[in-house]
Order: sequence, then structure tokens, then C-alpha cells
Amino acid sequence: MTDITKQLKDVFADRLKEKELLSKHLNFRIGGPAMWFVEAVTIEEIEHAIKIVKDAGVEYFVLGGGSNTLASDEGFEGLVIKIAMREHRIDGTTVMAEAGVISASLARSTANAGLAGFTWAISLPGTVGGAVRGNAGCFGGEMKDVVTKVEVLREGQVLEFSKDDLKFGYRDSAIKHSADIVLRVWMELEEGDPEELKKELQEKLSARKATQPLYAGSAGCVFKNYEIQSDEELARIKQDHEIPEEMLKARRISAGWIIDQLDLKGMKIGNAMISKEHGNFIVNLGKATASDVIQLISLIKTKTRERYGIQLQEEVQYLGF
Ligand code: EPU
Repeated sequence: MTDITKQLKDVFADRLKEKELLSKHLNFRIGGPAMWFVEAVTIEEIEHAIKIVKDAGVEYFVLGGGSNTLASDEGFEGLVIKIAMREHRIDGTTVMAEAGVISASLARSTANAGLAGFTWAISLPGTVGGAVRGNAGCFGGEMKDVVTKVEVLREGQVLEFSKDDLKFGYRDSAIKHSADIVLRVWMELEEGDPEELKKELQEKLSARKATQPLYAGSAGCVFKNYEIQSDEELARIKQDHEIPEEMLKARRISAGWIIDQLDLKGMKIGNAMISKEHGNFIVNLGKATASDVIQLISLIKTKTRERYGIQLQEEVQYLGF
């Protein structure tokens, strides 16, 4: 037994997994083995785990719900720490959720408690911690609209940040550019009518079912929508291409729409396919490899650059590449 294994065993006992297939933990259902894999249920466990691997000069990766991650076929030569702290508390209109709470289940709990403002998250895959980090959003909502405060772990210290400190942007936050690990999130919601809220949950779920692939293995939208950088770029794009007015107005072109225009929906490489339902989803048809997905991603980026002169950026996070 290596020294690292022994030390991790001292903390996690038989909850430590070695050579754990990442495909079991990621919505894509893709990914080779992680050398070590743990689910941390307390802050102390996260701290211990990080100290052990850092002291040994080994890499670690913090995993939330696994809904937005593509892991390599070779796996990861380090420790994966899945955040599994799943308590939440509702106090009046204030909600506190630990980072490992599943966003969709929190959406249901807040609606059941008669709180409005978070029902959109019923169709958000993944955990609250991951959602804050990437300022996730869908169907009219975004984390930045509800978050007031976040507690993070930074180099062994627990720190608190206000919404302003977090510098939220489109699918972006200061946390994403740091090694901070989200521990707890506070949200401020509004009182609402429980019957109305129940209806809203239903509507958001139906909207998701109507436009996005539900059952296939995928990591949600693969690319961020393209944000037009300047007036000059807007003028160039408008002149050369027919872009829907609402996208020009929002200065953001939907990657799904672009991929649709490029006629790439349904395109397959190996066992991965660009969804026929929504162009910005790549689905695992059963035995897809990370390499299949990466080839589709490259193809989409190249074709987009050729046709529109713009560079799409992945929203998906890479692990072990
Ligand atoms: N469209 C097409 N063809 C497609 C896909 C989309 O023409 O294959 C068109 C739609 O008809 C619509 C426009 O593009 O006119 C925008 O499409 P949609 O409403 O599906 O939204 P989106 O911009 O593609 C964003 C988020 C999704 C979120 C939806 C719904 C990003 C990258 N994507 O998609 O988030 O669920 O809005 O609110 O911001 C994710 O982040 O993982 C994700 C799935």
C-alpha cells in the first residue's frame, strides 16, 4: 500500500476507492479510473484529503454533481474529491445549502416551502456548489439572481464572500478562476403561492423535455453561447450572416443554433453523437469514449470558425487530459 493510500484510508476508511472508474460518477458515462476517489461529507474531510495529496505532490480534482465534466479515457492520476455535504436549511426567505445539495432537489424543496425564485433550477443538473462556480442557469434564471453569500475553502481557511466579491458573469465567477472550493451557499428568495410554484416546476420541466435530450448520457451544453465582443464584431457578423434578432440584441449567439446552422446535428464519431434534439448537446450512445467526444468538439469548433469567424469555448470541464 502506498503512503498516500494509507493516509487516505486513515481518514476515509473503507470509503476510499482506488482505481475507481470515473464513468460511474459522470453524467456523460465516460472516463477511465481515478487513482483515488472519495466522497467528502465534512469540511474536515476535504481539508485532510487535500493536505495528504498536496504534501505528496499529487494532483486533486474537486467534483460536484458530475453533470458538466468530461474525463479522459486514461482516467486521472490523482485524487478525486466528490463534495457530498448535502444539508440545507430554510429560514423565512433565506436558504442555506451545502455545496453537495442537488440543485433540482433544492428547487423542489424551496417551492414546497412556498418560496419563489428558484423553480428554474428544477431542470438544472448537478449540485449547488458547481452551479455557483459556473453561474449556471436555465429557463430564465441564473445563480447570480439568487445567491447572496458563499463560503469557500481556500488553502485550509474557511472564507466568506458576498455576491459582489464573486464577480458573476455569463457562466462565470471569480471562484472558477481560483482553487477555492465552495462549501456553503446562501440564497435570498421571495414568498410565493405554493400552487403557482408547483405549476412553475412542471412548466420548466416540460420546457426542458421539449428542447433538450433527457435520458442519454451527456454533460448538458458543451459550449458556452458566443458573446459578441465589440460593436465592430457585431457589425461584421450582421453583415455576413442572418442571425436571429433576439440573439443580436442579447449580443450572444446560441452555440446550439450555430451547430444547427452548420447541419451537424445527428453527426456521429464512434459512439458519440451531436444530439438531434439540441445542437449544443453531445450524447453518449452507449460506449462513447472521451476521444470520440473530443473529436466532435474539435470538428464543431473548426466548422464554426470557418463559417462564422468565431471561436466557441467549452462550458464542459475537462478532467485528466
Ligand atoms: N436552437 C436551434 N437549434 C438547436 C438548438 C437551439 O435553432 O439545435 C435555437 C432555439 O430554437 C432558440 C435558440 O437557439 O431560438 C436558443 O436555444 P435554447 O433556448 O435551447 O437555449 P440555448 O441558448 O441553446 C441556454 C443554455 C442552456 C439552458 C437553455 C434554456 C448555454 C450554453 N445554454 O441554451 O444551459 O438550459 O438556455 O434556458 O448558456 C447548460 O448550460 O448546460 C445548458 C444546457
